[in-house]
Amino acid sequence: MSNNLLTVAYIVASALFILSLGGLSDQETARKGNIYGIIGMLIAFVATALSLDVSAYGILPSVVIPGAVIGASVASRVAMTSMPELVAILHSFVGVAAVLVGIANYLQQSQSLTGVESTIHQIEIFVGVFIGAVTFTGSVVAFGKLRGIISSKPLLLPARHWLNLGMLGAAVWLGAQFLGAENINGLQPLLMMSAIASVLGIHLVMGIGGADMPVVISMLNSYSGWAAAAAGFMLSNDLLIITGALVGSSGAILSYIMCKAMNRSFISVILGGFGTETDTAAVDAEGTVGEVTKTTIEDTAELLQNAKSVVIVPGYGMAVAQAQHTVSDLTKLLRDRGLQIRFGIHPVAGRMPGHMNVLLAEARLPYDIVLEMDEINEDFPKTDVVLVIGANDTVNPSALENPNSPIAGMPVLEVWKAGTVVVMKRSMASGYAGVENPLFYKDNTRMLFGDAKKNVDEIVGKLTQLSQESLDLRQPRKVELLFQPK
Ligand code: TAP
Repeated sequence: MSNNLLTVAYIVASALFILSLGGLSDQETARKGNIYGIIGMLIAFVATALSLDVSAYGILPSVVIPGAVIGASVASRVAMTSMPELVAILHSFVGVAAVLVGIANYLQQSQSLTGVESTIHQIEIFVGVFIGAVTFTGSVVAFGKLRGIISSKPLLLPARHWLNLGMLGAAVWLGAQFLGAENINGLQPLLMMSAIASVLGIHLVMGIGGADMPVVISMLNSYSGWAAAAAGFMLSNDLLIITGALVGSSGAILSYIMCKAMNRSFISVILGGFGTETDTAAVDAEGTVGEVTKTTIEDTAELLQNAKSVVIVPGYGMAVAQAQHTVSDLTKLLRDRGLQIRFGIHPVAGRMPGHMNVLLAEARLPYDIVLEMDEINEDFPKTDVVLVIGANDTVNPSALENPNSPIAGMPVLEVWKAGTVVVMKRSMASGYAGVENPLFYKDNTRMLFGDAKKNVDEIVGKLTQLSQESLDLRQPRKVELLFQPK
């Protein structure tokens, strides 16, 4: 493929990636956005494979085919609840790729670059390898934390900030050695910096607590983008630079949006935050040691039968129970009876951005009744019943009411302001952040214990039965005649 054609293909692919990002910003256009992304990536891949730079056609299929098969089979089998883990491990691949490309690029020194150009190229390599190594090990630790292999509790070494600063300083010093080295004598400082950056990646993510993990994932997403962009500079590949910059900046914007949603400053997240202290003090201060009021399927069905407005607040538990389709059946049933029924979605509900929206879209719920936290929060005082289905941290009042709570300041769905709140979960266990929830002990809260899918299924059954009974009551009854007419 000629270089001109390659440039055209890269421009088309870049445009498709931008269209893809635009499409993914809204549920109704997300599917289209995804397709644009797939086509863009296909064009990018084929154009690169056919470019003049590629000649090893014997090796290419032997790495591309197994990679594609493994990727497709893993991605098609992964459960929705494990998606963040998959994303984390994929980020680590981008990181390790940037490290390997950087080292290979350094070993294959270009004779055409001299003076300032050569120095700039070396800086690109050094920075690319640094970001790649941090991304690689940081993503592996994030994967381990999300998978539960590594404890989600933050590792807080005594002088951890000094340790990070020391590692950064050592990397800068090695950078100076690297730039001053002749030929490939800079390999040693480059490898030493890779090792230090790898430890830095591990230490940075190990120090971050459970509830900050969503921000970490999107931050690593951003890093992986910048690592790819750096690789693009090393290889003089414009498409890689554009794609890397798109991923890097969108990841950074997402991290910012999430920090805002959790009322956290980005810097404090990076330096370790939520879950840093134990929440025992918060528990005591909230007086959460008390009695909860349990409820039954029958009472919940009756409550819904008599309600005029209902808000459903789903959380991670709905994903675990795979209750979205049953929830959709319940919604349809209640809507058919003329009830106002809406959904309230917290920005970090579940385990990945947009987790709840994806599940509700899969269950074909209309988008116009799915509202964001800011849109629904002021309506809770006017709501008769709130059904909290497998949500916990995102409806925790201690975030607003207890300044000592580890999640203090995080905006939450203020469900307790509604008439009655029914919380569906299996036990009194805490949510992802490991924080006690005083909502369960409030006077207007009813706990409906058990698997969310089973419970919602049974509520649907009970409501159907109740409506059948009221229909029967309205039917004219047959009057038995005492005397048969002759
Ligand atoms: P969580 O606070 O994690 O609570 C989920 C609740 O669901 C648990 O308390 C659990 O209680 C219940 N549950 C689990 N399986 C269930 C089942 N089969 N049936 C019924 N209930 C079940 O959920 P949330 O409110 O969605 O909050 C999300 C949390 O995850 C936040 O802390 C957030 O920061 C964090 N996080 C979010 C993301 C993103 S990007 N969304 C990524 C990583 C972490 P039982 O065990 O008692 O049933």
